Amino acid sequence: MKSTFRAVILSGAFATLGFAMACGGGSQSTVAPSPSTGPASSPGTSPIATDAALFKLLAQIDPFGSYSLFPNADAILSGTPFHGPMDRVSMNAKAFAALQNGKLPPGTRFPDGSVIFKEIITNRGTTTTYSVLYKDAGNQQAADGWLWAEFSPSGTVGYSINNRGAVCTSCHSAGQGATNDFVRTFERQH
Ligand code: HEC
Repeated sequence: MKSTFRAVILSGAFATLGFAMACGGGSQSTVAPSPSTGPASSPGTSPIATDAALFKLLAQIDPFGSYSLFPNADAILSGTPFHGPMDRVSMNAKAFAALQNGKLPPGTRFPDGSVIFKEIITNRGTTTTYSVLYKDAGNQQAADGWLWAEFSPSGTVGYSINNRGAVCTSCHSAGQGATNDFVRTFERQH
């Protein structure tokens, strides 16, 4: 089963490469951490050392189909240039529990294990990409406390956690990002 999963990822690898490059990625890393030196993980958090492990978390362990829509935002947002044309943002129960009245209380951060999940949707309604923030502040792959990744719906890596959010974090720090734990959909709430 595991080898089948990996084969699917590899066979689709070329399909989304063009997409990721077009979005300013282009820094695809092929370096996988060696199993013996995987990232240290914060206590109580699933240790995520690879893109495949993160995708498995989203697909099976804490499946995104059970996540709550981002509160007080449109179910389908018109996307920003990087994430457009449309997107849908949801979060797992751990992240949702950190909110009060739909907001992140001032001075607080999302707890380790939080997932913020964005589906990028074409004008014709097809989901092409999953953009993911996974909170694990102690993880060696983390930037600003999060792992940053993009996948195709079949699990092909579009943007690897190994890049430590290099193309993501400046924009996620902009606006009110820095005061909202780098989560920018808060700025799109009603
Ligand atoms: C050009 C600016 C920009 C860049 C670059 C960018 N983002 Fe975003 N991102 C946003 C904005 C703005 C939102 C809020 C929702 C929206 O407007 O689409 C967002 C939303 C998200 C969300 C939903 C959670 C949130 O922050 O609201 C995720 C997940 C996400 N981005 C992941 C990524 C990843 C992973 C990368 C890098 C591969 C990345 N983003 C690069 C601007 C950017």
